[in-house]
Formats: sequence, structure tokens, C-alpha cells
Amino acid sequence: MGVLELLPDSAAIEDGELALGGVRATALADELGTPLVVYCEQTLRARARAYREAAPAATVLYGSKAFPNLALLALFAEEGLGADVSTLGELELALRAGVPGERIVVHGNNKSDEELRRAAEADVWLVVLDAEDEVERAAAAGVRRVLVRVTPGIDPDTHDAIKTGHRGSKFGLPPEQALPAVARARELGLDVQGLHVHLGSQLLDVSPARFSVDWLAGFAAECRSELDWTPAVVDVGGGLGIRYTETDAAPSIDGFARTIVDRVERAWTLQGLPAPKVVFEPGRSLVGEAGVTLYRVGVVKRSSDTTTYVAVDGGMSDNPRPQLYEARFSCLLANRAGEAASGTYTVCGKHCESGDVLVERARLPEPVRGDLLAVAATGAYTLAMASNYNAVPRPAAALVGDGAARLIRRRETLDDLLALET
Ligand code: LLP
Repeated sequence: MGVLELLPDSAAIEDGELALGGVRATALADELGTPLVVYCEQTLRARARAYREAAPAATVLYGSKAFPNLALLALFAEEGLGADVSTLGELELALRAGVPGERIVVHGNNKSDEELRRAAEADVWLVVLDAEDEVERAAAAGVRRVLVRVTPGIDPDTHDAIKTGHRGSKFGLPPEQALPAVARARELGLDVQGLHVHLGSQLLDVSPARFSVDWLAGFAAECRSELDWTPAVVDVGGGLGIRYTETDAAPSIDGFARTIVDRVERAWTLQGLPAPKVVFEPGRSLVGEAGVTLYRVGVVKRSSDTTTYVAVDGGMSDNPRPQLYEARFSCLLANRAGEAASGTYTVCGKHCESGDVLVERARLPEPVRGDLLAVAATGAYTLAMASNYNAVPRPAAALVGDGAARLIRRRETLDDLLALET
């Protein structure tokens, strides 16, 4: 099936054209313009339900940094999810989307006083303490319930830039600092409900997460003997990876969530501790495969015997993941989805850098100006990390389902950019 298996659940080929949520990609592009990030509602809801069904007793928070957007936050809230936010902006979006405060967890490795005060005022469920000085500052800001983020020193197999649980990480506290932080927070009257750990992102192997649960149970036992305190909540963060190419293999949400929940129960029992409440914070595995970016093909240029470039009307400004993480993507021609590939092409953007390449070695029918190129699995950390490089306005996003499309983020305009200039 090729690239099709990387597309959202509702993807179909109708008269040789890609349709998403029952809407033709060509109609979406004509109506809403390109580049356009299209989210499939069916896939978003199915991924949320997969977490909830695999771990009914757990709390599931959308890691909103993957795409902080009102419509998506509200959709996930409808599915019973909360939100993990890491800045004032993400917190404000979650609150305005109607995510109840009791389902919001506030992160950040360098929270400002304003962020701490807003979290306290909104009476969010938990603030995750990430540094020694945050203990006092959170208490002073009026924060009540907290977790302490601990770095277990586990180095999972993913790109270095998105590892977080290793020794030397800028996030959280190593165990020798986390233990006194729990003690100090309790002295200050904070309700320390538990511990947080997040190993990293785009993890395609469950073993490091399993290992981190065992490690946490050991640390919880140490807390009991040293502090006479045990975590009632264990937040295992996000991290579950997705497939970007046909050769990627990723664990299922069901398999991943069940493995973690079972492991927590087992590891806590082995330590003779009461089972804690488990919290998941998935970002990418909820929204990544639900998103497809549509681009219009412009210049097609044979630059050497081995390379033919297909230039699209976006690039590293709307998806910087290839440059940041050597990420690989897969694509197809949405308006000619029934045609067989006839060549190998390098899909590049319109930015002033040779490194502005979205897809290397894409197998496509010979593209021509005006074709519509769809890049799969672009729902996570693309628009969220988009920039205005080369003064290019950022794309729009739409939600599709049941044959209809709804704009969920309008396209930025040149006037928006000019409005910032003085
Ligand atoms: N919880 C915490 C505390 C996090 O730091 C993150 C992601 C998540 C949850 C959600 O993780 P996920 O399930 O999405 O892996 N921009 C990078 C990814 C950065 C992830 C940052 N933290 C990328 O494009 O690969």
C-alpha cells in the first residue's frame, strides 16, 4: 500500500484523488489555499480513545506543544482528555478551549513568576516542579498541588535533541536533588502528589519506558524510607513514536499504554507500595498521524543526472523537522494518487537554503507545476514550530470529517507580519 498506510484513518482514493475525511484534497486546496495542514477528526478521536480504553483508570493529557490549537484541545477535552502545557501561552489556549483546570498540568524548565501565578489562579490540577528554586517560587505564587520531575538517567534511542531523561538533561532534577525537593516542598505546605518523568520523544521501543517505571518504583521506595512519603500520582510523560516512513515500525497506543500501566502495578507491588494514579502526556501519538500537509508544486528542475527537484510553496518555515532532527517524511501526489511512481525526486521548499528539503528520494509519478503534494504524518511539531523565515506567512490548518472541512487556524497574512514592524 505504500504511503497510503501512513495517512489518517479516513484517507481514501476517490477517482484517483486523495480524499481526507470525505473531502477531496484538491477541493481543500482550492478552498483554503496551500500550504494547508489537514487534520482528520476520526483519527484524532480514535487515538484519544485508544489511550482511554487501554488505560481507563489513567488520566490522559494531550501534550499540547505538538500543536497548541483551540479546536484540537476542545476536541480532546470532549474525549475526556486534559492538557499538558509548558508555557503561559499553552496554558491560556487550554483554558480558553474549555479544558477544565483540574485536567491541566503545567510544565516548563524555566517557569516565570507570571506563569506560576496564572497556574495558581486557574487552580490547575498540578504544577510540575522542574528546578530547586521553583519549590519556593511555586509556594510563593500560591500554587497548591505539585509533582516533582525527576531525571532517571535513562538514554533512549531517539535523536539527541529530543532526549530528556538522561543524566545532564536540562529538565527535571536528578534523584539526589529530587528527594530534598520533595522534602522542601512538603515543608512549605505544598501538596506533593507525586513524581514526573519524561524520557524523550519519538520513542519506537517500549523498553526504556518500562525500565523507567521500574526505576521510579525504586525511587518511590527510597522516598518512603527517607521521607515517609510516597507518590500517589506517577506521570510518565509522553514519548510514544509514530511511523513517518513505510520502513518505520511503532508500538501501538494500546500496547504501549497497557505495558506501562501493568508495569507500574507490578513494580509498585514488588516494592510493597500502593498503586499510584498513572498519567500519560502523549503529543505526537495523538496528532502526528492525523495530520497531512498539502503543498502546491511549482518549479520542477533537473539539476544533475541524479537529482530532480520538486519545489513546493512552503518548506522549512512550516516544517523544520528535517533540519532539526534529520526527520524523514513520505509524500504522494494528492491529485494523481492512483498513478504509479515513475521516478525519484527531491521535494524541496521555497526558502533560501540548500538544506530546505522536505522529502529526499520521494517516489512519485512525474510531477508538474500545479500538482498537489501531500506530506504524511505532519500533525505534530510542524505548525507548532513554524517560523516566518524569509517573511513567509504561516499556513492555515483545517479539521475534516464527514465530508466537511472547518478552518481551525487561519492562514497568516503579510499584514499580520507587517503589523509587528515599527
Ligand atoms: N510531556 C512532556 C513533559 C514533554 O516534554 C513532551 C514533549 C511531551 C509530554 C509530549 O511528548 P510526545 O508524546 O509528543 O513525544 N519538537 C520535537 C519534539 C519535542 C518534544 C518535547 N516534549 C519533534 O518535532 O520531534
